Amino acid sequence: KAFALASTAIIATAGLSNAACDDGEMVIKFSHVTNADKHPKGIAAGAFADRVNEEMNGKACVEVYPNSTLYNDDQVLEAMLQGDVQMAAPSLSKFETFTKVFRIFDLPFMFKNMDAVEEFQQSVAGQDMLASMERRGLMGLAFWHNGLKQFSANKPLLLPTDAKGLKFRVQPSDVLVAQMKALDASPQPMAFKEVYGALQTGVVDGQENTWSNIYGQKFYEVQDGTTETNHGLLDYMVVVSTDWWESLDADIRDQLATIMAEVSADRNAAIAQVDADNRQAVIDAGAVVRELTDEQRQAWVDAMKPVWAEFEGDVGADNIALAQEINA
Ligand code: LMR
Repeated sequence: KAFALASTAIIATAGLSNAACDDGEMVIKFSHVTNADKHPKGIAAGAFADRVNEEMNGKACVEVYPNSTLYNDDQVLEAMLQGDVQMAAPSLSKFETFTKVFRIFDLPFMFKNMDAVEEFQQSVAGQDMLASMERRGLMGLAFWHNGLKQFSANKPLLLPTDAKGLKFRVQPSDVLVAQMKALDASPQPMAFKEVYGALQTGVVDGQENTWSNIYGQKFYEVQDGTTETNHGLLDYMVVVSTDWWESLDADIRDQLATIMAEVSADRNAAIAQVDADNRQAVIDAGAVVRELTDEQRQAWVDAMKPVWAEFEGDVGADNIALAQEINA
């Protein structure tokens, strides 16, 4: 019995960074929807919690709730505005009802690789986007990388015409809906935690996500294969409510901001390795991964890039120009 209790405590602290908070410590609940281990967001949230819990012991304590155990992404921002949760890192596609500038990150083939994404986010225009929702009561502390998205379905996808007529789960983003319509496919917005079941039961035929999410949620188990399209971005913004952040003592806020900046820089610099490890894990699990020829990839670009024109007014022609200049 004593042994069982001791091992439970170890799992709770090592696995979830949920060190029990002490009396008198300010509790910061960090809610997210992915797996905790081996995942870019899970690792970053855990690293942030570990540092706060060590360096701010007695003052502040972070509890991380992964795997949608506390909130889905469609609930977490409202809960944050109510003061029920203090931190989250939804994907940039999930801020649709708060700001339209993030739509640039959903536009297909906008960024050629993650270095270009990093450079764009660190530019003045990118950093200004962290403040784009302040009048709605939310503020961004940092961007966190996940990676570029791949398509999978219950049949092989080599050309955009292969996607025609299929139902694809998308995040709740108008850009992603338009992108799937450009392929003559049927977009089905759905919460992340529902996707595996929906693929398994045939409610949807396919999905798009990063290697880390495809591996973390085991989507490959219920798909014919995954096609390496790298057609779009899935990144995050760490978000807090402006009211809560401004209510903190200045020294506490500064220390949290410093730890957040350092953890974000470290984890974002490690993204290529985490992405590659998850891609390899999908392959090692025996799943089919299809690479495209240059001609096949160009066909996906030709089919989806016309979507940009529809959203240029929301994201700003200057931001599109900046992203393209960085790609060049
Ligand atoms: C999704 O809904 O597919 C992603 O936003 C999940 C995540 O947080 O990576």
